[in-house]
Order: sequence, then structure tokens, then C-alpha cells
Amino acid sequence: MKVEWQEYLSVGVEEIDRQHKLLFEKYNAFFTAYHGGRGDEEVIRLFGFLEEYMATHFADEESLQKRVCFPDYQRHREKHLELTCKVAELKERLYNEGPDHNLVTSAGLLMTGWLIEHISVMDHAIARYVKASPIQDQHNT
Ligand SMILES: [Fe+2]
Repeated sequence: MKVEWQEYLSVGVEEIDRQHKLLFEKYNAFFTAYHGGRGDEEVIRLFGFLEEYMATHFADEESLQKRVCFPDYQRHREKHLELTCKVAELKERLYNEGPDHNLVTSAGLLMTGWLIEHISVMDHAIARYVKASPIQDQHNT
């Protein structure tokens, strides 16, 4: 199923919202390719994109959490590390075994989990906190 970024997911920082939207786009491109029988080609592109994306995006998001003293920062950071390791594991499989059906399916499951559980639940908690926080994010101008 294709997924769409929704306004309620906004964390109140334009750059992070832009990064989240980009991840939704990349997932949708992968989903379309998968159903068009081109999942193996697209999964290579997806993993190429994710490596750089994760480094920048997680650092930006963690920096926002620190700026606003987000109380669940440690647990959130652990989840980022977990996602980073899962992607690294799949990349290793891709490198060793190529983009077989199992790998493409695992990549799809990882991405839906990321978008649905992580962004829609955990990142959304940051969004709610930022909106209610007495500490104004000075970098969001
Ligand atoms: Fe996050």
C-alpha cells in the first residue's frame, strides 16, 4: 500500500518534515516498482539512498530533541540505532546474495514499519511535544 505524509505528522521543523516527506516518496517509488516486478532494481536504489539519508536525518532529528529537551530522547535514539542496524544487515545481504525476493520483501517490511510505527508514532510524539513545549526551538525560523 502506498502511504502519504500527512500534515499532523509535522514536527514543526521544515527541514525534518522535508526529510520525512522524501522518505515517503522513496518508499512509494519502491512500492510501485515492487508491484511492477522491478523491486530488485529499486531496492538497490533505495539502499543507496538510505545510507546517507539516515546519517543526516537521524542527526537532525536527535538535535531537535535535544534542543527542546524531549524527555524520551534516549529511547528514540535507540530506535534510530535499531533502524540503522536493520538497514546495514539488509545491505549486507544485498551485497552478498543480491536482490532476491526475500530481501525485497524484508526491505518492504522494514520501510512500512519505519513509516507506520516510527514516523507515525514515535516522531509524532516529538511533534506533539514540540507544539506543547514551553521551550521554543530557536533553529526553526
Ligand atoms: Fe525518529
